[in-house]
Amino acid sequence: MLTVFHSALEIQSALANKKEIGFVPTMGNLHPGHLSLIKKSLQENNLTVISIYVNPTQFAIGEDFNDYPRTLTEDVAKIKKILSHDDHVLVFAPTSDAELYPHGKKVITATGPCDILEGSLRAGHFDGVVTIVKKLFELIAPHRAYFGKKDYQQYVIIRELVKMNQWPIQIIGMPIIREASGIAMSSRNSFLSPHEMLSAIKLRETLLQLKSVIMSKNYSLTQINQQLADYNKDPNFNYLALHTQESLAPVSTLNQKMILLGNYQLGTTKLLDNIEFEGPA
Ligand code: PAJ
Repeated sequence: MLTVFHSALEIQSALANKKEIGFVPTMGNLHPGHLSLIKKSLQENNLTVISIYVNPTQFAIGEDFNDYPRTLTEDVAKIKKILSHDDHVLVFAPTSDAELYPHGKKVITATGPCDILEGSLRAGHFDGVVTIVKKLFELIAPHRAYFGKKDYQQYVIIRELVKMNQWPIQIIGMPIIREASGIAMSSRNSFLSPHEMLSAIKLRETLLQLKSVIMSKNYSLTQINQQLADYNKDPNFNYLALHTQESLAPVSTLNQKMILLGNYQLGTTKLLDNIEFEGPA
């Protein structure tokens, strides 16, 4: 069963006294990456709520807010396709900020690693993300919430938000779902020309190559940092960086759990990808 709500008050009353709510926040234009989160929530919870809202607060001026694909009818059809007869899903598709913040929107400040990587490219982006996620968590009161590791920094910052507020919500990080070519699935891939689509694989290839360089044990951390600096001279790389997995802190030794993250610019589109691994002992 699937029901679509546009009103915050109506979904709140439909959720009153519900146990075991799984929540998947999205901006819609669903692809198999989003659907993998929804499937996991269906497995783990009695009731799944999916929000579909292109959140204006997380887009900086000049970003693709107006062009972002809005495909609610198709999205609902895609969700229906993966449901079995006893699944119970509520889709929350608020119409505007006025619906979500009837008493005025107060943008909150993100904490955690929010000024580096995406934060350094997109001023105010994570403030916009935590503001909407806090609002949605308050309305839906989920027990578990599912986030993709494609947006790894977002996942870390949301974990931090929950920890800071001591909310009883389990945050579950889900693996990146990829196209057959290896590139991470993204709603923004639809902005790529066929030629750009072919170039997009460079990001994934570079991450894999750097991982094997690190795993070879032939290079010191200083040498790895030099290689990263060389890659960052390529104007297509908005960044290519090595951090710790847990908190995205700088890496001080190579024998720990690390993550290589990249943002690769093709035309006006910024593609994200990353690879998690444990360094050589
Ligand atoms: P959106 O970009 O629609 O992504 C919704 C969720 O799907 C995020 O947790 C994202 O990491 C996950 N996702 C996207 N592509 C994925 C892929 N290829 N594999 C696995 N998971 C993937 O992220 C947002 O929306 C917004 O910032 C939001 C959290 C909804 C707040 O507005």
